[in-house]
Amino acid sequence: MIASPTPTTTGPARAVRKAVVPAAGLGTRFLPATKATPKEMLPVVDKPAIQYVVEEAAAAGLDDVLMITGRHKRAIEDHFDNALELEQTLAAKGDTVRLDAIRDPARLAAVHHIRQGEPLGLGHAVLCARRHVGDQPFAVLLGDDLIGPRETLLSRMLDVQGRHGGSVVALMEVPEDQIHLYGCAAVAPSGEDGVVRVTGLVEKPAPERAPSRYAVIGRYVLDPAVFGVLERTPPGRGGEIQLTDALQELAADGTVHGVVFDGPRYDTGDKGEYLRTVVRLACERPDLGPAFTSWLKEFVAGLEDTGGRSVTRDSEDPLAA
Ligand code: G1P
Repeated sequence: MIASPTPTTTGPARAVRKAVVPAAGLGTRFLPATKATPKEMLPVVDKPAIQYVVEEAAAAGLDDVLMITGRHKRAIEDHFDNALELEQTLAAKGDTVRLDAIRDPARLAAVHHIRQGEPLGLGHAVLCARRHVGDQPFAVLLGDDLIGPRETLLSRMLDVQGRHGGSVVALMEVPEDQIHLYGCAAVAPSGEDGVVRVTGLVEKPAPERAPSRYAVIGRYVLDPAVFGVLERTPPGRGGEIQLTDALQELAADGTVHGVVFDGPRYDTGDKGEYLRTVVRLACERPDLGPAFTSWLKEFVAGLEDTGGRSVTRDSEDPLAA
């Protein structure tokens, strides 16, 4: 494991202002909850998952967010817009706490929306951002991946991009039997703690073909050169245009770095992980955490008293997708 450095706050002025958030997926793993509600709007404690992602972008100084959506995603647009009627009702009641809470999403960043039109893959979704992004480097944040709210991963990635140029991916070491779920990076030392040179990338390799245990997690800072590559990237794994395949071409040119992350990352796209995310973040909340944690301890002790009958092994976990 490559040690993570202390985050730097110095460095050259950043050119990156724009974040792209692909959010066009159908959310089939969460049906029927996602029949009429976008999966990105499922609550994690009391905020929709997608709000954490926009908060992370805003915290890293990205004040322009482009959502790549699809049909049935209007709730996302409404969430990042003003809700005048609701605001007036709360204002009339003097409920300033809730008033702030509903105003916050629209204040975080200028949030734009375009539709992908056809579900042709993550690479195609990113290509849809071309006109909006222009010729500046930009960040991509995948809505299913939540990064611990106190982490500075994206800022570190922006610093690395500012110093080296090119593109930067976030990497996390995962067990060998999980690498087939991710894009996987072949890496070489960069001479800097927590930063590697990415020499190759492969989308969801079989374990025996994986060049490392470094998984690409859903944060990228991309050189706009990726658009030209994506335009001619043929469908890859799953018949979809893969961002990983386009980045492989850039990696072969030696222009991709990886920032190694070992902090908390939550995959809210999976039912079991989604539930674990809600529990973990609820425990960390100063307002809810203390009472919820005591209840949780009692609840778990109660399960243990019953001989663990309600505690299933992973292989029997009915929530595992
Ligand atoms: C996508 C990317 C994959 C990456 C993963 C991170 O896959 O294609 O390279 O490792 O996100 O979450 P998905 O999970 O959308 O299938």
